[in-house]
Formats: sequence, structure tokens, C-alpha cells
Amino acid sequence: MAATRIDWVAEHCQLLRSISAEFKDTLPFRGLTVGTGIHLEAKTVALLLTLRDGGARLVSTGNLNTTQPDALEALTAEGVTVIGGPTKDRDLHSRYLDEVIAARPDLILDNGGDLFARFLDGPYAGLRGGTEETTSGRMRLEPLRDRLKLPILVINDSPIKQFAENEHAVGQSALESYLRLTNRVTNGERVTVFGYGACGRGVAANFRGACARVTVVDINPVTRLRAHLDGFSTPPRDQAITSADVIITVTGASGVLTAGDLPLLRDGVILANAGHFPLEIEVEAIVGSPDVVGVREYADDLVTLELNDGRRIHLISRGHMFNLAGPRPMGNSIESMDLGFALQARCLEAVANGSVDSSSCVVPVPAKIDAAVANSYLDRKYPAAPKA
Ligand SMILES: NC(=O)c1ccc[n+]([C@@H]2O[C@H](COP(=O)([O-])OP(=O)(O)OC[C@H]3O[C@@H](n4cnc5c(N)ncnc54)[C@H](O)[C@@H]3O)[C@@H](O)[C@H]2O)c1
Repeated sequence: MAATRIDWVAEHCQLLRSISAEFKDTLPFRGLTVGTGIHLEAKTVALLLTLRDGGARLVSTGNLNTTQPDALEALTAEGVTVIGGPTKDRDLHSRYLDEVIAARPDLILDNGGDLFARFLDGPYAGLRGGTEETTSGRMRLEPLRDRLKLPILVINDSPIKQFAENEHAVGQSALESYLRLTNRVTNGERVTVFGYGACGRGVAANFRGACARVTVVDINPVTRLRAHLDGFSTPPRDQAITSADVIITVTGASGVLTAGDLPLLRDGVILANAGHFPLEIEVEAIVGSPDVVGVREYADDLVTLELNDGRRIHLISRGHMFNLAGPRPMGNSIESMDLGFALQARCLEAVANGSVDSSSCVVPVPAKIDAAVANSYLDRKYPAAPKA
């Protein structure tokens, strides 16, 4: 039988492969249920099966609008309990998350804080703690520390995740997705990037590398200065909107681009979001604006809005994370995710075996785990010379 893309990804997740081989012996999750709420795509399949190899019973659901049917099929075939399927319906997705928590997992692997927030709505005994994957989740969980009082390690705050995934990989996959989805030129186009954190820096750098003229908007003046000194144009926000052929939001904040900005948008502008939640561009309010007189829907979730003054505005993926959207969505590079997911596997192991305690509530990955994962990646690139 022909091998699948999921097989290809598994083949190249070399860190997870070696952790999986080790976990089959050590069984760090024997007897434990791990509840997960993370994008279900080829790379997370490799992560979840690594946890399964470590003895975990998995109860998994995806994130809003990012579940890929082949990933769901592969996990189900491997005996993972997968709840729900691909959906853009927030209420339905919310019920899937509720079902994961109803299984009373001993460990949680969260992405966006959805599962830990639900745990607080109906706490139960036995939850040992877990991990949070992303910036948005950390921002949501930090104010809840006093109520959570559990070891929760934030993968996003590992320097490895910051540079390997957020900076390098998100920028590359945002550019790859823009080209794949729109088939439009980047050369000479004026691209405005909202947010100059780790992800925004990568997005800005990759579009600049593709010969776009990139402008950066960031609400933090120090970060704006950094973008300026990195050679990007950093005019005031409204000017950055008015001049843009393409606007990409990647801030982790809500309401970054609103219906109130409609008068500022150029004819033909393309709007896309790479931030975690589909709230950065207020798509519903924009589409519902009285200025919008026509909506044209194309294949691959591309939408054109026709305004009453004749301008047209194009939306990619209706404001959902566009690097996990459209035909053959591949997300971030396999190696960047292998690194981040090796951190996930090691952090969940540390929570399971009690080597981190509740004083580590919503904190970065322990430095020892970062060093071990970095070494294992580099050891593969520079294997020891055979002894003469
Ligand atoms: N698409 C992906 O594959 C992917 C991968 C990792 C993270 N993310 C998501 O990308 C988002 C950004 O992550 P990050 O690690 O770069 O975060 P970050 O905290 O490092 O940077 C966010 C930046 O946005 C700025 N900002 C906040 N509100 C703003 C606003 N209204 N206008 C302009 N700038 C604003 C902040 O000042 C900050 O500099 C998060 O939602 C994160 O979860 C996406």
C-alpha cells in the first residue's frame, strides 16, 4: 500500500521517533488518561502516538477549523478516542472540548487554554497538570494561576519554540500558504504585518525575502522601534492600513482590524490572519457592515467583499489561521514541530512523574528539558565521528 503524508511526517519526526522508542520501555503514562485539544494534523498525529506509546489513554479533539480528516482517520485507526471532527461552529467545538474534560483526564495537553479553562468550570480530583502549547493560551491561563495551582508548562515560552517554530517556521508557512492559496505575486506588493513578536518577525522577514515591501505595526513602542531598526517601515497604524495591498495579523489579540477600519482599506486589499484565534480580524462585523453590498465566495475559502463605493476586499480563510487552511494545508515545517513536540512529550513526562510541582504553574519549559531536546537534535546533525 502506498505510504501516506502522515507516514512521511512520522518518518521525519526523528526526535519523536526516538522518544517513542524510549517510552515503549519506560511507559511514563501507564494507566493515565491524557486529554488533548490541539490541531489534529499529521504532526500532532506523531505526537499523540508517541504519548500513546508511553502508555497513555488518549482522549483528543482538535482546535476550531483546523482538524484534518486524514489525521482523524489515522488516530482512530490507532485506537485513539477522537471527539468530533472538522468544524467552524464555535458551539459545537465547545461541546467537543467539554467531552474531553468529561473523560477526567489525568494530564492535559492544551492549545489556547480551552481545556484548563473548562477544568476550572468543573474541577475534579486527580488532574496532575499538563502543558499549554501557545502564546494565546499562556495569556489566558496566567491570570488563573491562583485557581489552577497545578504544574502547567508553557511550551511556547521555550526559546526553542520561539525561534524554531514561531519565528522561522510560522513565517515560512505563512508565505507558503499565501502563495498556495492566492497564487498572487509578492514582489513589490505592500504587505503590512500587525504584531512584531516572534511570529510577526518571521512573517515580516519571509515576505521581505519574497521581495514584498513590508510595513510593521505593533502597539508596543519598543517593539515598533525594533522593527524600525530591522529596516521595516513603521508608520502610524492608519497609514500602515491605507497603504497596504496585503494585511496579515499575528498578534494574539482580538479586534486588531475592525469594521471601523473599512474606510481605510485600499481597493483590492487581501486580509489574512496567522494568530491563534479567529478574532484578530473582525470578519463577522466586517461582512455585516452596511458598506458591504456583495459577497463572492470562491473555492478554498477565499471571499471577496464588494463595497458600496466599488472597492473590493479579499479575505483568506475568513480570518482563521491561514497557514493551516486551504488545499493541502501543511502548517509549519516538520522539524520545527518535531522540536516543539519533543518538548511537549518531555514536559508531559515530567508532570506525570512528579518532577515538576504546582510551583511551576504556567511557567516556561524547564531549562534542563530545553537543553536535552537541543542536544538530541544537534547530535543527529553532528553524529560523533566513528572511533578509528
Ligand atoms: N499560525 C501558527 O502556526 C502559529 C504558531 C505559533 C503561534 N501562533 C499565534 O500567533 C500569535 C502571535 O504569537 P507570538 O508568539 O508572535 O506572540 P508575541 O506575544 O511574541 O507577539 C505579539 C505581538 O503583537 C503585538 N500586538 C498585540 N496587540 C496588537 C495590536 N492590536 N496591534 C499591533 N500589535 C499588537 C504585541 O505588542 C507583540 O509584540 C498568537 O496568537 C500565537 O498563538 C500562530
